[in-house]
Amino acid sequence: MAKRSTTIPYSFVSLNGANGAPLYRQLYDELRTAILSGQLRAGTRLPSTRELAADLRVSRNTVLNAFEQLLAEGYVEGQVGSGTYVSRSLPDELLHARTLDARTTRTPRAGRTLARRATSYTHARVNVSRDPQGTRPFRPGTPALDAFPCTLWARLLARRWRRPSADLLGYTEPAGYLPLREAVAGYLGAARAVRCEAAQVIVVAGSQQALDLVARLLIDEGDAVWLEEPGYLGARAAFKSAGARVVPVPVTAEGLNVQAGAESTPEARLVYITPSHQYPMGVTMTLGRRLALLEWANRAGAWVLEDDYDSEYRYVGRPLAALQGLDAEGRVIYLGTFSKVLFPALRLGYMVVPPDMVEVFTNARGLASRFSPTIEQAVLADFINEGHFARHIRRMRALYAERQAILLDAAARELRGLLELQPDAAGIHLVGRLPAGVDDVAASRAAAAHGLDVQPLSSFHLKRGGHGGLLLGYAGFNERQIRAGVRQLAVALRSVMRDKS
Ligand SMILES: Cc1ncc(COP(=O)(O)O)c(C=O)c1O
Repeated sequence: MAKRSTTIPYSFVSLNGANGAPLYRQLYDELRTAILSGQLRAGTRLPSTRELAADLRVSRNTVLNAFEQLLAEGYVEGQVGSGTYVSRSLPDELLHARTLDARTTRTPRAGRTLARRATSYTHARVNVSRDPQGTRPFRPGTPALDAFPCTLWARLLARRWRRPSADLLGYTEPAGYLPLREAVAGYLGAARAVRCEAAQVIVVAGSQQALDLVARLLIDEGDAVWLEEPGYLGARAAFKSAGARVVPVPVTAEGLNVQAGAESTPEARLVYITPSHQYPMGVTMTLGRRLALLEWANRAGAWVLEDDYDSEYRYVGRPLAALQGLDAEGRVIYLGTFSKVLFPALRLGYMVVPPDMVEVFTNARGLASRFSPTIEQAVLADFINEGHFARHIRRMRALYAERQAILLDAAARELRGLLELQPDAAGIHLVGRLPAGVDDVAASRAAAAHGLDVQPLSSFHLKRGGHGGLLLGYAGFNERQIRAGVRQLAVALRSVMRDKS
């Protein structure tokens, strides 16, 4: 029986018997080009001569000769026969072309034109952590990953894998796995007073996908969209990339200032809001403002997009009911995510759309990536239906309340005069105020130099000036990390204050 290949076929190699050059020379040229262009990276193991010969349907001698030549010239190292690797010590001038390529990839070179709409994606990067050390304090939006019940999840996953039915492995409904949609509808009705049937729930790859679908389906180029000021960057990026005119509408202690929006931009097509716990300021929109917004939206014929991203975490009193439950006209689209309650890499969230919008949103969701992984959806449905979800939320609520208290205690000891923090009845981050005149971008940079990930409040504003603050996520960090992080933050802020004076 032929030995099975363990390597990936080298599809970029194409040898041509009629070309005139010997086959070993053609193979040498193709491998050398792949090494120089970076397609084969330093340290990559090449396939064995036997495997490559079989893949390319040439004699083993052809491959041996090509490898010998590459070895002799220093492109590869090791011993033919016992593992050949792309050399880790290629001279710089050889790699020059590759370095240039890497440097210029941000601006597409002439001759290959993108669609006009691609320009709106140039600055539409959604926040990602590229931190090689993992997530550093106090990156906002990170739940306690170390407290996730991995063993339980693995058990539920294994149970599903033991006897997977055809509907779990094949192509399926773009709107999502029905038992999960039913579980979500049940949870939203009971916990958030959202009024919906399972048929209105569309499972998406996190709320970011929902924002993208909403922007595509409800916004035409040039349409005005109200965005809370300060507001969520993921929403701003989605609407801007759809060509929207994003209009900042101020947030006060009562939530979005509906009157200010109605006066400045009455023609808006859509309003994006986080009424339960405004992102990032943390205020809860009052009932009066909610009713005023719905009334305005009905008059103006505008959509309201309610992002209920972390309402599970309320430490004082009961969570406020969702705005969606007040909507009698089918104007509100409701978004939720499992990124904060479970973990972000699950990439599962949901949207609740009015009944007459189900078909168009389902079609668009299907076009985007067909559907979300079904086994994970089934496991999540089990997790909810068997009571683990409610238990996890209760445990995390207690843990996050404790972590917020630790952060406040550490700040009271270390950050007096440097950063003013107030308790928040909800959420998983706090916004600290810097003393007047201290630049929050400079403060964030200084914090980064001390190993911290602290985002400046001004980056969440569309308008410039007058709002120095820092966002401190606390849910994902233990007591030791929080206390050590606060001490480092104090050192960083003192250095910024010194430079200023
Ligand atoms: C306001 C807001 N909405 C939604 C999300 C979650 O996005 P996703 O569901 O795409 O992970 C976040 C995460 O930081 C957020 O801050």
